[in-house]
Amino acid sequence: MTARTTPAIPVANRISGFVYAIRNIVTEARKVEAAGRNVRYLNIGDPITFGFETPPHLIEAVERAMRNGHNGYAPSVGIQPAREAVAAECGRRGMPLSPDRVVITSGTSEGIELALTALADGGDEVLVPVPTYPLYTAVLAKIGARAVFYRTDPARGWMPDLDHVRSLITPSTRALVVIDPNNPTGATYTTEIRRQLVALADHHNIPLLADEVYADLAFDGPVQAIASLNPDAPVISFSSLSKAYLAPGWRAGWMAVGRTERLDDVLSAVKKLADGRLCSTGPMEHAIVAALDGDRSHQEKFRAALRERAELTTGRLNAIAGVTAVAPTAAFYSMPQVALPPGVTDEDYVLSLLREKGVLCVYGSGFGARPEDGFFRVVFLASPRELSAIYDDIADFTRDFLTRRT
Ligand SMILES: Cc1ncc(COP(=O)(O)O)c(C=O)c1O
Repeated sequence: MTARTTPAIPVANRISGFVYAIRNIVTEARKVEAAGRNVRYLNIGDPITFGFETPPHLIEAVERAMRNGHNGYAPSVGIQPAREAVAAECGRRGMPLSPDRVVITSGTSEGIELALTALADGGDEVLVPVPTYPLYTAVLAKIGARAVFYRTDPARGWMPDLDHVRSLITPSTRALVVIDPNNPTGATYTTEIRRQLVALADHHNIPLLADEVYADLAFDGPVQAIASLNPDAPVISFSSLSKAYLAPGWRAGWMAVGRTERLDDVLSAVKKLADGRLCSTGPMEHAIVAALDGDRSHQEKFRAALRERAELTTGRLNAIAGVTAVAPTAAFYSMPQVALPPGVTDEDYVLSLLREKGVLCVYGSGFGARPEDGFFRVVFLASPRELSAIYDDIADFTRDFLTRRT
């Protein structure tokens, strides 16, 4: 290799604020693998990598679309049948709206990015739960807006602290992010909490960005749209085929803008931004129709599998001295807490677990938690047998780690 003679080309400052720990931490795991240790990846919420399968009728819909020549650009807001299917689904979930208020996006992720870009200028504030799904803070860093964290409380099943939310609203607040059911905590919010969040958004005229990508994966069955509590409140709902329809790689998602006229300018802004990226993945838009209008029996089996794994996870983690875990009620995440001695961080704990046992979790500070609080996130999609072996390793490791460090 020749020595570099010219200076490296600089990158934009905003990149330093763009952190996505769920993937960033994989670099560490690769080093551990290169040193010869097998790594079990509990960092990414992708059911496909753990053997769950995309329903065949969705695959057929995409295949048919491709064979029928739907390989050109789709309209930037998405094909009309997909927009109609999403509007009908929103109606069934208590959020009535017309198809022209739906934009088909490259996953929930792109919807989130479009909405935040349409709403917040540099320096504006967006209320985000802590712990949070890290895309919110990453996108806000990219557009130069500020994430203002509101607490969710493990002592109350990870419910949002509403007084804290209220206290953070300022004239610069541009949006309130609500992730329900939640990643990383696996919580499903109570109707009363949801009602109060919607009332706050309505009263203060702040759009509530409702991340509802896990709505069908609550163990007790699908939850209604948060907007169902007041369909005239300023709510924008986001979802996709990634989780409940087992097709994360397709990048097939949507956003549904509540029917209130207050959101008309935001909808126009989102459509303008959507024009700039031409369209989401065209053939996959056809699968949205097949998914929302078709058979969903796979979801019942998936929910049952998740409930079994959640119970195993909560039981096994709480049996470890120094670890506490709130029982999840949805999705495939648990956010346990380990009582760390002073001076030790969640990252120290998670990286040592990776290096010593080959188990990859994500440290809580990757989701905005305080490093000293000792939270880490477990994705429990592996088989119960594999999970059981992993929890044996986490138990052995934690006992040694806490003995060594205290
Ligand atoms: C809360 C939450 N929102 C959004 C996403 C992104 O989903 P999509 O694949 O639809 O972009 C995820 C993925 O893990 C998530 O957990």
